[in-house]
Amino acid sequence: MKNIIFFIAAYLCGSFPTGVVIGKKFYNIDIREHGSKNMGGTNAGRVLGKKAGFIVSFIDVIKVFLPVLIAKQFLSFQAAAFVGVCALLGHCYPIFANFKGGKGVSSFFGIIFALDFILGIILLIIWKTLKHVTNYVSVASMTSCFIISFIFYYKYRNIKLFLVLILLSFFIVYLHRSNIKRLLSGTENKVNPNR
Ligand code: G3P
Repeated sequence: MKNIIFFIAAYLCGSFPTGVVIGKKFYNIDIREHGSKNMGGTNAGRVLGKKAGFIVSFIDVIKVFLPVLIAKQFLSFQAAAFVGVCALLGHCYPIFANFKGGKGVSSFFGIIFALDFILGIILLIIWKTLKHVTNYVSVASMTSCFIISFIFYYKYRNIKLFLVLILLSFFIVYLHRSNIKRLLSGTENKVNPNR
């Protein structure tokens, strides 16, 4: 019963549509109608500016990080990870925004940061490096999720958690299918358009 309450609370927490709320409240813009039309931090940064992008990304990470961190005090490590999965599903299919949400990357970051803060920092470094090298946020996002899943397995040797993280990584690739189409046609948004 305790687990179920955590799972539902995490889903509701993840469902908070940060990008939409910040865009509408402070900029009078629905970011789902502009740029990549995604409600995540990358598109918030693209449409509303760097500061908004950072704030949306930060809150999107926190809304998953906190439920997992709290769950870790009361549930097993594995159940806490599943709390993170529920929050991620909330972010991707938010009950408060017609079940049309983000692509799960910030949520994935929140899960890793809450399970192991040092691995969270490593994930951030990998993501930033790939973003710089490839010039595409989407490529950095998809690739870094897989890489950290393997590093996670190397550290914890927990095959169940590894499979959960790998499945989430594939799910994140699935949610990036519009980005993949743009990458293949050479029309994906670049971090630095001059490169
Ligand atoms: O975190 C989402 C990112 O990987 C891609 O965002 O807006 O370029 O589709 P966007």
